[in-house]
Amino acid sequence: MTILAVLQEPDPRLRKPSQRIDLIDAEVRRLAHDMLDTMYHLGGCGLAAPQVNTRRRVIVVDTSASGDAPLILVNPVLHHHGDRMARFEEGCLSIPDLYVAVRRPAEICVHALDLDSNPTAWEGGGWAAAVIQHEIDHLDGRLLTDALSPKDKMRHSMRQQRRHR
Ligand code: NI
Repeated sequence: MTILAVLQEPDPRLRKPSQRIDLIDAEVRRLAHDMLDTMYHLGGCGLAAPQVNTRRRVIVVDTSASGDAPLILVNPVLHHHGDRMARFEEGCLSIPDLYVAVRRPAEICVHALDLDSNPTAWEGGGWAAAVIQHEIDHLDGRLLTDALSPKDKMRHSMRQQRRHR
C-alpha cells in the first residue's frame, strides 16, 4: 500500500492539463492502485492523477458507502448528457475545508479505458456523476474554486493567505 502526497491549492501544478495515456503499462497500473490507496486513506471519494503530481489522464472514484466499489478510468471523455442539471455540495482533497454547491449535468456517459486497455463506459447520474465530472475537471486543470462567485473567491483566497502566514 502506497500513500501518495496530494498537492494542495494554490499549487500551480494543479492547473496544468494532463496528457492522454497511450500505453497502459505496469507503471500506469501502479499509479492507479496507489491513487486508490491514497483516496481511501484520506477518506475521499475521488482522486485525479494531477493531484498526486502526475499529469496523465487517469481518475479513480468510489462513491459507495462501503468503500469497496473502486472505479478506475483512463483517458475518460464526457461523451453525452441530457439537459437536466443537478447540484451537489463538493469537496476536494486538494482544497481542505472548502465545500461548494456545483451545478453540473445530472446524467452523463463517460467513455474510457480500463487497466487492461479495454474500452469501457460509465453511464449514470447522482453523486457518482458529479464526482466523475469533478475528477475529469482536474485533468484539464479546473478546480472547485472556479465555481465560486467572485465574492466567495476573494473570501477563499483571504482565508488561504491567513493560513499560510
Ligand atoms: Ni478534487
